[in-house]
Order: sequence, then C-alpha cells, then structure tokens
Amino acid sequence: MSATPWLLLLLCLAGAAGGGVLQARAQPDTKGFITIDCGLQGEAGYVDNVIMLAYTSDNGKLTDDAGTCHNISGEYITPSLGKSMHTVRSFAAGARNCYTLRSLVPGLKYLIRAKFMYGNYDGLNRLPVFDLHVGVNYWYTVNISSPGAAKSVEAIVVVPDDFTQVCLINTGAGTPFISGLDLRPLKKAIYPQVTNAQGLALLARFNFGPTDKTELIRYPDDPLDRFWFPWVNSVLWTEMSTTRKVSHLNPDLFEAPPAVLGTAIRPRNGSQIQFSWEPQPQPNDPSPAYFVIMYFTELQLLPSNALREFYINLNGELWFRDGVRPAYLYSGVNYNNFALRKNQYNITINATANSTLPPIINAVEVFSVIPTTNLVTDVGDVSAIMEIKAKYQVRANWIGDPCGPGTVMVWDSLTCSYAIASPPRIRRVDLSSRGLNGDISSSFANLKAIQYLNLSTNNLVGLIPDALSQLTSLTVLDLSGNRLSGSIPYGLLRRVQDGSLDLRYDEINPDLCTDGNSCQPDKRKSKLAMYIAIPAVVMVAIAVVALIVCFTRRKKQGSMNNSVKPQNEISYTSENYVYGDNSLRLENRRFTYEEIEVITNNFQKVLGQGGFGKVYNGYLEDGTQVAVKLRSDSSGQGFKEFVAEAQILTRIHHKNLVSMIGYGKDGEYMALVYEYMSEGTVQEHIEGSRYHGGCLPWKHRLRIALESAQGTQ
Ligand SMILES: *[C@@H]1O[C@H](CO)[C@@H](O)[C@H](O)[C@H]1NC(C)=O
Ligand SMILES: *[C@@H]1O[C@H](CO)[C@@H](O)[C@H](O)[C@H]1NC(C)=O
Ligand SMILES: *[C@@H]1O[C@H](CO)[C@@H](O)[C@H](O)[C@H]1NC(C)=O
Ligand SMILES: *[C@@H]1O[C@H](CO)[C@@H](O)[C@H](O)[C@H]1NC(C)=O
Ligand SMILES: *[C@@H]1O[C@H](CO)[C@@H](O)[C@H](O)[C@H]1NC(C)=O
Ligand SMILES: *[C@@H]1O[C@H](CO)[C@@H](O)[C@H](O)[C@H]1NC(C)=O
Ligand SMILES: *[C@@H]1O[C@H](CO)[C@@H](O)[C@H](O)[C@H]1NC(C)=O
Repeated sequence: MSATPWLLLLLCLAGAAGGGVLQARAQPDTKGFITIDCGLQGEAGYVDNVIMLAYTSDNGKLTDDAGTCHNISGEYITPSLGKSMHTVRSFAAGARNCYTLRSLVPGLKYLIRAKFMYGNYDGLNRLPVFDLHVGVNYWYTVNISSPGAAKSVEAIVVVPDDFTQVCLINTGAGTPFISGLDLRPLKKAIYPQVTNAQGLALLARFNFGPTDKTELIRYPDDPLDRFWFPWVNSVLWTEMSTTRKVSHLNPDLFEAPPAVLGTAIRPRNGSQIQFSWEPQPQPNDPSPAYFVIMYFTELQLLPSNALREFYINLNGELWFRDGVRPAYLYSGVNYNNFALRKNQYNITINATANSTLPPIINAVEVFSVIPTTNLVTDVGDVSAIMEIKAKYQVRANWIGDPCGPGTVMVWDSLTCSYAIASPPRIRRVDLSSRGLNGDISSSFANLKAIQYLNLSTNNLVGLIPDALSQLTSLTVLDLSGNRLSGSIPYGLLRRVQDGSLDLRYDEINPDLCTDGNSCQPDKRKSKLAMYIAIPAVVMVAIAVVALIVCFTRRKKQGSMNNSVKPQNEISYTSENYVYGDNSLRLENRRFTYEEIEVITNNFQKVLGQGGFGKVYNGYLEDGTQVAVKLRSDSSGQGFKEFVAEAQILTRIHHKNLVSMIGYGKDGEYMALVYEYMSEGTVQEHIEGSRYHGGCLPWKHRLRIALESAQGTQ
C-alpha cells in the first residue's frame, strides 16, 4: 500500500459563527480558559453560540503596543469561517510584539493556540512569514501560504510564572498579524513529554474516520479544547465508527475525547497503514526531534476466532516490540517517551502474521520539541522595570521579556547577565537623555541586581530615594543633569564614603533646597560639578598617610609652607582619578595654628558651639568670610575622625553641604575652615540644629565621617 503524504497543516478551520454579546475579561474564565478574538473592534467580547465559549476583545489590554485592527477582505469571509477569524491585529512597528496572558498558575501545563487568517486584510496581497515565541522561547515560524487559508498553531508548555507572553517576531519577511489566541490549562499528568525544559509544538493532530468531514472536534466534545482536525482523504481507507461510548483507561495521559476515539480507519486493500513526515527546520535546529502519539481503540466486537494485531514500525524497523491489540471500546495509546531525531519519519503499521484483521488507527498527534530552556528575566526585575516603563512611558522596544531571549531581543538601554540555571538579571540601565519626567521611581530600588544606573540629562525632579542605597550591587549612579531637590540621602553618602558607589550629581538644578532656609541656594560661582566618585577608603587612607607624613615632617622642620600640597595627594589625583572632565579636586589649604589665630582675630567672635568645639568667625587674607571650627580638648573627636571629616568635606562640593576651605592640625590643635554661609547658618549646619527637610544634617555627616574612619582600621 502506498504511503500518503498527508501531514499537511493548512486546513480550513471550520469554526463557528458568532452570537450574543457580553462584556468579557482578558483573564482566565472559570474553566481557566482565555479566548481572544484579535482585532475585534470595541471593548465588548461575545459568546460563540456553537462552542459556547466567551471571546474577549484584545482591544488595548493585552499588547504593549496597540498594533492596528483590520477586517479581512470580504471575499474570504465564508459561512463556515469562525467570527474570530474575521478580524486581525497587525503589528507594523517593532521587532517584537507580545500578548501577555495573566493570572496563570506557575508550574502548570497550558495549551496555547494562535490562529491566523490573512484574508488580504491590508489589501496588499503580500503573504508574510514571521516567528512566534512563547515566553522567551522560539515556538513556530508562521508561513502564510495563501490568503484564504486559516492556520492554527499550537504549543503545550509548562508556564513557569503566573503569566506568559506570546510574541510575534518580525523577521523582515512581512508584517506579523494574528487572528485569535487561546489558552487552556491542562492537568499536570497529561502530555508527560512536556517538562520545564521542553514544550511541544503541534505538527499534526488528526481524527480518523469522522462522518462529517467538515467538523473540527473541540470544546465541549474535548474538555481540553484541542482542535482535532478531520482526516478528509477517504479513498484508501475504510471508515469505522461506533455509537457506543469509548472509555478511558486509568490513568489516561492524553485524554482524547470519545468523539475522536469513536471513529477509525483501516486499509481498504492490503494490511498496512503508513504515514510519514519530514522534519521542519527551526531557526536554531535544522532537524528538531519529534513525539508521536497514536490512538488505538477497537470499535468492533470481534468473534472469538478473530484477531486484530499489528506492529508499529519506524523507518522500516520494528518500533514497539509487542504487537498492538486494541481494546474494545477502551482507549489505547502508543507514544514515545523520548524524543526521536531522524532525517525522515516513516511509520508503518502492519498486521502480524497471526492477525486475521487489518490494522486500524483512530487518531494521531505529531509534535516537534521546542526547547524551553531560555528563562524569563527574574520576576522582581520584570515587575520593577515594567513599573518604570509605565511611569516614564518608555517606548523604544520595551516589549516582551526585558532580557531575552538571548542578547538579541534585550530591551534598549538595558544590559542583562545570564546564568545557566537561573533567570537573567538586569545589570545596567542607561536612561540618560530619554526625556524622563517626574520623580525618580522607587521601582529602581527593586532592580536588586543592578550595577549601573544612568538617569542623567532628564527632567527628573523631587527627592533622591534613599532606597537606592539598598542596592548593594550598584556601583555607578549618575543623576546629573536633572532638577532634583533635597539632599543626597544619608545611605547613598555612606555608600560613597565606603567607596562602593560612584555617585554623579550636579548643581545646575535651581530647585535645590528651596524648601527651607536651612540651606540657601548657594551663590557660589560655577565650581559646582559636585562630584563624589571616589573609593573613599582609599582616599581616607591616603589622606591619613599624607597627614602623618606632613605632620611628622612639620615636627622636624617647624612651620610648614601651607601652599605645598602633600605630594601623594597630587599624584594620586592626577593619575588615578580622572573621570571625564571632572577630576577630583583636593584644593584645600593647610593652615598653621598661627594662621588660624590671625584669621579668627585671636578667636574673637564665636559663631556657635558644636559638639566637638566652638565655631569662630574669621576672614581670609583676601577678605573671604569663613567659619573656623576648632576642636576642643574635651570633644573626644580623635585624629581619625578629624581626618575623615576633612576628607568628606574635601570631596563634597554641594549646595547642601558646607564646603571646606582648609584644615589645620598639630598636636592637640585641630581646626576646620569652612566657607561662611551668608545667611548665617554655618554653625547650624555644623550642629545640625536646624535640619529642614531636604538637607543633610551635620550629625549625619559626622556619622559618616566616623564610620568611614572606622572602616579604615
Ligand atoms: C470592520 O467591519 C465592521 C462591520 O462589520 C465595521 O463596523 C468596522 O468599522 C470595520 N473595521 C475596520 C477597521 O474597517
Ligand atoms: C514559506 O513557504 C514557502 C512555500 O510554501 C517557501 O517557498 C518559503 O521558503 C517559506 N518561507 C520561509 C521563510 O520559510
Ligand atoms: C483494492 O483491491 C481490489 C482487488 O483486489 C482492486 O480492484 C481495487 O482497485 C483496489 N482498490 C484500491 C483503492 O487500491
Ligand atoms: C519513507 O517513505 C517514503 C515514501 O513513502 C520513501 O520514499 C522513503 O524512502 C521512506 N524512507 C524510509 C527511511 O523508509
Ligand atoms: C511489517 O513491516 C515491517 C517493515 O515494513 C516488516 O519488516 C515486517 O516484516 C512486516 N511484518 C509483517 C508481518 O508483514
Ligand atoms: C501466532 O500463533 C501461534 C499459534 O497460535 C503462536 O504459537 C505464535 O506464538 C503466535 N505468534 C505471535 C507473534 O503471536
Ligand atoms: C551617563 O550617560 C551620559 C550620556 O550618555 C554619559 O555622558 C555619561 O558618561 C554617563 N555616565 C556614566 C557614569 O557612565
């Protein structure tokens, strides 16, 4: 008997016409079904009055980018064409467009079906070819072969999260479109070949011997709502059927519906059934592996002297050792547990020598394996970046999974890291110059693995969230070129101080600290570019060394020329710490005790009293008004704290922070010389006595100093 090349998928979907109207939701119904009519105009869905399933409109709810709705051309609308195929949604823009199906059960198996009917919806008569992805894994290449052919594509996969995405990938061969999208939950035990690592893509599913050759068996005949396509070629076959009910053996791993098992074919002549297919290349696998599931149920009550027994052969070799004897009115299934990888698949079913009857077959399913080893991005990262996307209305290609699949589909402005067995993580986000408005989203602080965040040159306002300091992996944070207000949160300053964070921030912001009088906008010239970008531990250590060296030298040499900077500092600055145009500046003066006496006119005017000593008014030789903080013997501030404080102030040039002009130290004597704030609040800064909102209290800064200093020991 000759082989029949019948595994063609391009079948007419004999769907049902539509009926009543109802307000539908894009979430699973009580059965867990999601049934979407893509491109349906208006918000309202409808109930199909044949299968009694509610169709949901995809209007704007399910896709990131709206795409556009179209009616197919009237010439392709036939009475048998289901209403859901009358409209399409097409995606002319973007390399990837996705539907997000929500409220799923993580770890459960789902059947996902996408339906396509081109119908010359765009009037161009151009048949597109595009890829489908389920989640971040390749599923199928949709190759539309004729405008009037309805195509159904199915996958069975384990959904790892409580949502999954179906994405249409523009591969440069036409505009992707879709007519309908279905999701059906499956029991865990069913289709045991489907695991976390592999899903199945349907190549063929045929119901043999149906009386009505136009009828697609699906819900409610199949509670799982698979599409059992009728096998229409009956020339070579004799059809068989029963009116009695076919039962499942327990457990039945495939649960083919009785309506499918109740019909079968046997060879009209001869004793052999043969079918074959060739592997369909996938982008990453020219010869994918396959699973075959064959259903055998005896439909005739055989006399005792009759035997129906047959072998199943693959490519001319016995595949199942034992002959198959179908059970009367009970479902029987032969399938492979391990995927087959061949160049060609010829399956021959022939009667055994002892058999008195020809072989039969009731139904068959053929699936190719789709590896589902690409993992979706870490769930926490996804929800954080989704919130960021929504808040700032980020367009670009921010559709689908942020990190994948692979590095090809990664969202613009993101960099991810990939590990073998764990989900990709978002490591870098560069949203500089993207016109971001509003405040800094606290969702940034939920990107727990982020190392680099560049938000520079946007219109961001408001406070810097302290939560950013919790991001232990974050090493670069660029906030420059925004209109932020308030102060740098303590937590971030700490991170800067301990050298773990390179924070960039500037003062072109006119709104800075206008909320209170405690820190008046500074009228200082343009030496802004506040720049805290130093491994502070190193700096403090160097400074300590420098000071020790200097003072030791001073002890020997007597008075020291204060215009000479410690050499280590100079070389360190110029060689190692040049960041773009902004190199670290250590331009502070060193003052001798005698000079401090002159500056303060012998400590004449006390501005205030801080925890560590008194603050005196003074004037430099050029008339600049300064405040001089002199450590008192009783203050308890030690050498290290003093150095650390000096270090902080040396590096932090910011309106909110009093900037230091110089320092002096010799034995018991320690002094810090600050700029004098014209509104007369230097000592308040220093004492932290008038902390208003946005500004960092001095106490905090001191704590930073202390901790920083301790960190160097
Ligand atoms: C599609 O056809 C319906 C009527 O069947 C009409 O109301 C609707 O405006 C059409 N949509 C488009 C995009 O042409
Ligand atoms: C699409 O199918 C046609 C034949 O049906 C084939 O010639 C063409 O190469 C296919 N295109 C792709 C991209 O697979
Ligand atoms: C079946 O066999 C008979 C005789 O053996 C022959 O006349 C008939 O043409 C065959 N039919 C087919 C479809 O091969
Ligand atoms: C499979 O069957 C086809 C025709 O049905 C035949 O040409 C081919 O040689 C067969 N291949 C194998 C491996 O049996
Ligand atoms: C069944 O077919 C296989 C392969 O086509 C062959 O090797 C075997 O001998 C056949 N068995 C019978 C009983 O015809
Ligand atoms: C066929 O029948 C004979 C006699 O009943 C039996 O001995 C033999 O084992 C059977 N062969 C097979 C393959 O079942
Ligand atoms: C942030 O982005 C801007 C603009 O692309 C760039 O000039 C700047 O160097 C970046 N900052 C960092 C710290 O990489």
